[in-house]
Amino acid sequence: MMEEGLARAAEWLADASRVVASTGAGMSKESGIPTFRDAMEGLWAQFDPQELATEEGFRKDPRRVWSWYASRRRKVVEAVPHPGYHALVELESILPAFAVVTQNVDGLHALAGSRDVVEVHGNIRRAKCLDRHHSYPGDPPLPAEDEADPPPCPVCGSPLRPDVVWFGEMLPEDAVSRAWRLAEECDVLLLVGTSGTVWPAAELPHAAKRSGARVIEVNPDPSELTPVADLFLQGRAGDVLPRLAQAVKELRQGETPIGWISRGRSRRRDPADEG
Ligand code: APR
Repeated sequence: MMEEGLARAAEWLADASRVVASTGAGMSKESGIPTFRDAMEGLWAQFDPQELATEEGFRKDPRRVWSWYASRRRKVVEAVPHPGYHALVELESILPAFAVVTQNVDGLHALAGSRDVVEVHGNIRRAKCLDRHHSYPGDPPLPAEDEADPPPCPVCGSPLRPDVVWFGEMLPEDAVSRAWRLAEECDVLLLVGTSGTVWPAAELPHAAKRSGARVIEVNPDPSELTPVADLFLQGRAGDVLPRLAQAVKELRQGETPIGWISRGRSRRRDPADEG
């Protein structure tokens, strides 16, 4: 079943002119990055996410919020992209137009080598100042201790905060409008590791479908978006994506992956086959 799904997904991707991968927290899981809620353990279990991920919470206790994000950032800077990330880099290199839209703030797609990445929730590796949103140049300092005050903005002295989208904040307009356009213009939307409960990720597959695209979902478990998917590839991103990229590569090179012929599948049509 999975093999057949993979073969069909590979054919769609190999034939596509424009592909967008939309990724969520499940993409980062095999790289050891806990989701926001999973990270609320130990010392942090006593806090409400509203206190840690809102401007109000930061203004009330900047030291606590900066320290919480520092603890998350430590995990992120130690993380290494798993083979699923490299598979998306490979797809970008072999397909005519391929972009990643991610809800993740860990920056792992870029670290793996993906060039066209749209981050709709910001990036935890960056900081900006609270009052005037001046971007901090380079990597913000990681405090040596568990508890530390946010450093001041080198431009205006306002405290630095992580450059991520907090509850109640607007998403970066450029990123969202680009994500939307990509979804509307793509032939295939590859949905990976998202529960599909948070906007705009939850809407992108619908937008893609309305514009005539096919939706392929990769997830170990069905999600809110599974009913929208034309194909559901059940499994982990780190297992499924490398197999998918390999099959697409073989198709683009005009080869037939071993085993497909015996199942009656034919190679994709080349323009040269016409007439
Ligand atoms: N490979 C692929 N998918 C996986 C894997 C894996 N190895 N492990 C888990 N998943 C799937 C889960 O089955 C689930 O559907 O990833 C999804 C993760 O869902 P969420 O934690 O809800 O993540 P996401 O959809 O990204 O939404 C979380 O909260 O912290 C914010 O910025 C974050 O807006 C985002 C939201």
